Amino acid sequence: MVERPPVWLMRQAGRYLPEYMALREKYDFFTRIKTPELACEITLQPVDIIGPDAAIIFSDILTVPEAMGLEVQMVEGRGPVLPVTVAAAKDVRHLRIDGAADRMQYVYDAIALARQALEGRVPLIGFAGAPFTLLCYMVEGQSSKAFDKARRFCYAQPLLAHQLLEAITEVTVEYLQRQVAAGAQAVQAFDSWSGLLGKEDFDRFCKPYLERIAGELQGLAPVILYPKGSWYALAELAGSGAAALGIDWTVCPVTAREWVGGKVTLQGNFDPAKLFMEPEDIRREVHRMIAQFGSQRYVANLGHGITPKVPVAHARAFVDAVKEYRPKL
Ligand code: CP3
Repeated sequence: MVERPPVWLMRQAGRYLPEYMALREKYDFFTRIKTPELACEITLQPVDIIGPDAAIIFSDILTVPEAMGLEVQMVEGRGPVLPVTVAAAKDVRHLRIDGAADRMQYVYDAIALARQALEGRVPLIGFAGAPFTLLCYMVEGQSSKAFDKARRFCYAQPLLAHQLLEAITEVTVEYLQRQVAAGAQAVQAFDSWSGLLGKEDFDRFCKPYLERIAGELQGLAPVILYPKGSWYALAELAGSGAAALGIDWTVCPVTAREWVGGKVTLQGNFDPAKLFMEPEDIRREVHRMIAQFGSQRYVANLGHGITPKVPVAHARAFVDAVKEYRPKL
């Protein structure tokens, strides 16, 4: 039994923090990610400033496509851009699987540094993009509302899509295992775009790979699966071996609990846009949310990443509201 649920925020290190913006002025995105001292400093910023119960390593899901040989640029105002994308069998053949996990040594180094710097104050979470979400970027080449090109690729060339998903999964499993070896105390797989698929297609293109990740990390560290938008998959993923399932704000906490049963922890699901409410309203809404989830087997979080321009005091109000929560007896 815990007195209150633990709390952290997806994307808690980022553009709403003036301290992050100051480093952003000086160093470009990949320098921030690939310099372990900088990544460590950015990882600790929200811990010091808003006080969550966990740190998440400052990195990005696109480290994996890059380590597999695809160039990734971060373009101001546009987000990630991959100038060369995967479209045909030869593109999958040219991906570099061997040694890909080695080429992300800078992430393991950042994790080891951050563990040291945290001095046990809070646990450190590692992460990776889930295979389908990485396929979306590797095929589409940029962010998109619906990733039409990526979905077309999956349906028109399903065997090739599975080859690509296999390759990503192989690298991702080793990547997460090595994050744990470096000091990550839990890992989250972000399937940010799985909700673009209907249930049957989720079962083909997402589920087996999420299950493999959960299975291969079992016994090493707790795994959090975050299949954004895929409410229809929660009941089945509850049996995947994952310790926790993240849900977005469109899913009713009471219903989610009915679907997953008592064995799995749920994480979520405050609408990040609600962080623009006044702090006293945030507090009230957070307490309502926890009452719906229940304070056991629950990690309070947002339903997706925090956005730029959220006032720091409001992010802190979210964390404080969870910390002061006590169940009504
Ligand atoms: O949670 C944390 O604090 C760790 C940091 C983290 C980042 N990216 C840092 C980042 C995490 C967990 C991610 C994961 C990530 N990256 C996802 C999955 C999570 C999600 O939100 O669905 C995705 C889809 C990406 C890909 C990505 N990286 C995009 C689409 C963008 C551009 C976003 C934008 O608003 O322009 C990034 C860049 C990025 N990754 C930033 C940060 C702090 C912003 C970089 C900046 O401009 O300073």
